[in-house]
Amino acid sequence: MELSRRQLGLLVGAAAASPLLTARPAPAAPTLLPPGHTWQLMWSPTATGDGMRAWETIEDDRADSHTSARPHIFPEGDNWRFTMHTVDRDTSTDRQRHEVTGNRTPSGFLQWKEGELWRVTYSMFIPATLKATTTFTHIFQTKKPGAGGAPITVTSLRRVNGAQTIEHKVFEPNILVGRTNLEPLHNQWIDIDYELKIGEGSSGAVRWVVRSGGATVVDATRTGVDTFLGDRVRPKWGIYRSLGDTSGSLQNCHLLLTGLKSYKAVPGSGGGSTRYEAENATISQGVVESNHAGHSGTGFVNSDNVAGCHTEWTVSGTAGAATLAVRYANGTTADRPATITVNGATVAAGRSFPGTGAWSTWATATLQITLNAGANTIRITGDTANGNPNLDYIEVTQ
Ligand code: GCU
Ligand code: CA
Repeated sequence: MELSRRQLGLLVGAAAASPLLTARPAPAAPTLLPPGHTWQLMWSPTATGDGMRAWETIEDDRADSHTSARPHIFPEGDNWRFTMHTVDRDTSTDRQRHEVTGNRTPSGFLQWKEGELWRVTYSMFIPATLKATTTFTHIFQTKKPGAGGAPITVTSLRRVNGAQTIEHKVFEPNILVGRTNLEPLHNQWIDIDYELKIGEGSSGAVRWVVRSGGATVVDATRTGVDTFLGDRVRPKWGIYRSLGDTSGSLQNCHLLLTGLKSYKAVPGSGGGSTRYEAENATISQGVVESNHAGHSGTGFVNSDNVAGCHTEWTVSGTAGAATLAVRYANGTTADRPATITVNGATVAAGRSFPGTGAWSTWATATLQITLNAGANTIRITGDTANGNPNLDYIEVTQ
């Protein structure tokens, strides 16, 4: 059995593990993110914490073809595992399917709408037993929700002139976005960075990036394509494959996923910054509310009016300097100084959050911080008996 990312990190130690996090070069092709926009993190489930609640729907052997082997899709350590046996059958018995859809959050599920730009990033382990086939093997799709219907975009493991490849296509009218050899990517964690501009006619666009061990293997963009079929777009992960393969590639196999994140493009301080809403942070002595207008996302954090209350975010970074912007409101006339820590170290003591004039008037405080490669914690703690100001989000720019 493969080791999860966490297990690997523990085994090889931080020094050896860090190149996985630090050595990723800047993308060669530009992001689809327009100027003056930023990525807002909307969904970041963990297999250990959220388990199968991460998904909007689950199609685990929906035809009841192999009930004794259930579940075929389940959390395994830090990963979600999709296990396919050669005997498994979908409702159409010429194919197999164990898939999950959507981005479930505590308040429902994300709606990817026409005109919006979304990004999903995740790590994926494709064992050598999950081979490319002469007929379709899809491991990621975007679709309009509802029964049946063709995919909008699709990542597939396909035999091309006998060679195993992994490819991404706009399904109709069969536009290849990118393709690379699969065999060098087998039996290791690879990282996917995917952007989808949802647009009718020729107003859609797709960017598909595949990275392996810090190297960019594919960075392919297609603009001027149709990526909208109506209603909304929903991502889908798993193994969905035809039994028509003629290369002898169908085996018992599995697929592992971890580190899934969805981001939505929103107007903001610009490329290179990522917004983290306070309502998705860890809150000590406070509640999420939405009664004051002008906040971003679904709400803001109203801390208890008590010293020591805090809100803590986990942000991903590269090693080095970063700008931290804190959006807040303070509808009183008294300053609400707070202590800001990064990874437990105080970077600002008694940082001023003066009155903004009204609870619905939001202001931004910025400061310079230093981040580590990978996950970092940023905590804002109220210094006085008035607690923190209302906190809307933080934005990190590197
Ligand atoms: C009001 C306001 C809250 C705010 C609180 C405070 O109750 O509606 O949003 O957090 O004052 O003083 O902290
Ligand atoms: Ca308060």
